[in-house]
Amino acid sequence: MYYTNYYRTDTGLVSDIERAINGEYSAITCYEQLAGLAPNDQVRNKILEIRNDEIRHFQTFSQIYTSLTGRQPTPHVTEKCPSEYTAGLHFAFNDEQETVDFYLDVADKATDPYIKDRFKRASADEQNHAVWFLYFITSGHGPR
Ligand SMILES: [Fe+2]
Ligand SMILES: [Fe+2]
Repeated sequence: MYYTNYYRTDTGLVSDIERAINGEYSAITCYEQLAGLAPNDQVRNKILEIRNDEIRHFQTFSQIYTSLTGRQPTPHVTEKCPSEYTAGLHFAFNDEQETVDFYLDVADKATDPYIKDRFKRASADEQNHAVWFLYFITSGHGPR
């Protein structure tokens, strides 16, 4: 029981996880919109694949949140994404890059090996997403 209580008192970690959940929730909403604006099916499918990763992250972080707090998270959109395609790509690229750093910080601070591992893994996914968005930006219309 010490184990559970220890994490219950770690409000810094819980608020980081809340922020991560809201970020994933915002990205899920944003990438659905961005996929609808994509110039072709290949780009659209890649954005939807990225979106599936965010759904997986969202589920993992929500489970961690519930195990720490005993409550379900109440996610909300914290960052609204642009409604124009190119502006949306730039927004997504920046957001992914910032999230890489944020998740590595959470992983460094976390003492629980499972939480550490999940945030490290999500950080690597976000880095991969950032590279895809950069590619869509620099290739104009992306892969054809
Ligand atoms: Fe994510
Ligand atoms: Fe991502």
